[in-house]
Amino acid sequence: MSDTLDRLKALQGADLPVHGGRTLAYVYDAGDSEIDRIAREAVATYAGSNALDPTAFPSLLQMENELLGFACDLLDAPDTAVGTVTSGGTESILLAVQGVRDARPEVARPRMVLPSTAHAAFHKAAHYFGVEAVLVPVGPDFRADPAAMAAAMDESTVLVVASAPSYAHGVVDPVGEIAAAAAARGIRCHVDACIGGWVLPYAARLGREVTPWTFAVEGVTSISVDTHKYAYAPKGTSILLHRDAGLRRPQLFASAAWPGYTMLNATTQSTRSGGPIAGTWAVVEHVGDAGYLTLAGRAFEAVDAIVAAIGAAPALQVLVAPDSTLVTLTTDETCDPFTLTDELVARGWYVQPQLSHAGDGPSIHLSVSAGTLAHVDDFAAALVESVAAAQAAGPVGVDPGVVAFIEALDPASLGDDDFDGLLAASGLVGETADGDLALPTRMAEVNAMLDVASPAMREALLVAFLDRLQRPTRGRTTT
Ligand SMILES: Cc1ncc(COP(=O)(O)O)c(C=O)c1O
Repeated sequence: MSDTLDRLKALQGADLPVHGGRTLAYVYDAGDSEIDRIAREAVATYAGSNALDPTAFPSLLQMENELLGFACDLLDAPDTAVGTVTSGGTESILLAVQGVRDARPEVARPRMVLPSTAHAAFHKAAHYFGVEAVLVPVGPDFRADPAAMAAAMDESTVLVVASAPSYAHGVVDPVGEIAAAAAARGIRCHVDACIGGWVLPYAARLGREVTPWTFAVEGVTSISVDTHKYAYAPKGTSILLHRDAGLRRPQLFASAAWPGYTMLNATTQSTRSGGPIAGTWAVVEHVGDAGYLTLAGRAFEAVDAIVAAIGAAPALQVLVAPDSTLVTLTTDETCDPFTLTDELVARGWYVQPQLSHAGDGPSIHLSVSAGTLAHVDDFAAALVESVAAAQAAGPVGVDPGVVAFIEALDPASLGDDDFDGLLAASGLVGETADGDLALPTRMAEVNAMLDVASPAMREALLVAFLDRLQRPTRGRTTT
């Protein structure tokens, strides 16, 4: 037994740290060990409980309803509002899109109007549910262009989307104008506040300027907000709120068309672990409104310090002043952004590279947490050292022959062998001396290569990569 847990710990040693405030993507750290302890205990206590049947596990229903109530208060929801606890931001968005599609069965070819910066989850929803994504370029400040969005709406438009804030640039779209344009045409408007929804209300209360984006904005019909982000809850929960129960109705699913129990779900999952729900409820109950205000104050203090550190580095620039807790930085020609990323990672700061897109060059994303505040001086020092190291190393070169080769390829025409060759040549997949799969430790060359590839080629290559990664480890029944 202890061997198993020792092995588990050893396996986890290969991962990014979840706590410590230095992992600036994927995880959100309150910087408070008591919150982490309570979350772990609640998850463990409820790991085997099943939220599939609220009559069998009424405590989970109560916890979910209390979470929804907290979210309603936070997001200025009217008394008519209802909601659902989902497994994450992507599931909340999938359900928002599925619901609007099914509410408009008379529309033969449903469309949704998205700013070009909307999260990839909407593209997944388009792919799953056959709703065409109509992409509208954003303005020079990376915020959605409401006039262009209004012009893109037509009689087949079932949904209009705004972000609060967008992930890649950290700015809040002009939700008021977008929602008004949608409402004037009788179209629903979803605000994707997955990453900002639990922190922006506190930013406003702290006196920071925040564009209105909640249900206080007329025309906003649904909002997604992820508790596993800035509510600092364990992974596995998000909330989807609707302005009224009628809007949620098409999301609810029942099937009595088989001999077993009548399936009755509000989400894409049926069996749902009680762990994340109880973990989230316990964290929200423990931190409370006053606690979140304090945590938001710390996160924004860290954001301001990080923005100042970036501003003090001549080779760096904040791409756009952040509206929330996400900072995007760019580098000048003396400092390769992908090398800078590796150098920061080597110094214990995980930052996330963003590839060139639609004419904009590469950038680096930082999701800043309350837990980062205690370490901002260390970040500033690591940044100075990392810039110097990246400048000394010089730019990452991609062989012009490789560029020409990649540009000439049509991903749709490539077979498995071609992808194996490309994955090996790109450095994404290698082999250890024992013939095991080896992942790259430094990513600059890989990112530089992906950066010159078209989006379609990136997608195809990374799908092939995932296909190679997810393979059974055989022989463990005999060990
Ligand atoms: C704005 C936004 N929407 C949606 C998502 C998707 O959330 P998840 O990764 O929980 O599915 C994210 C994740 O970062 C996000 O930032």
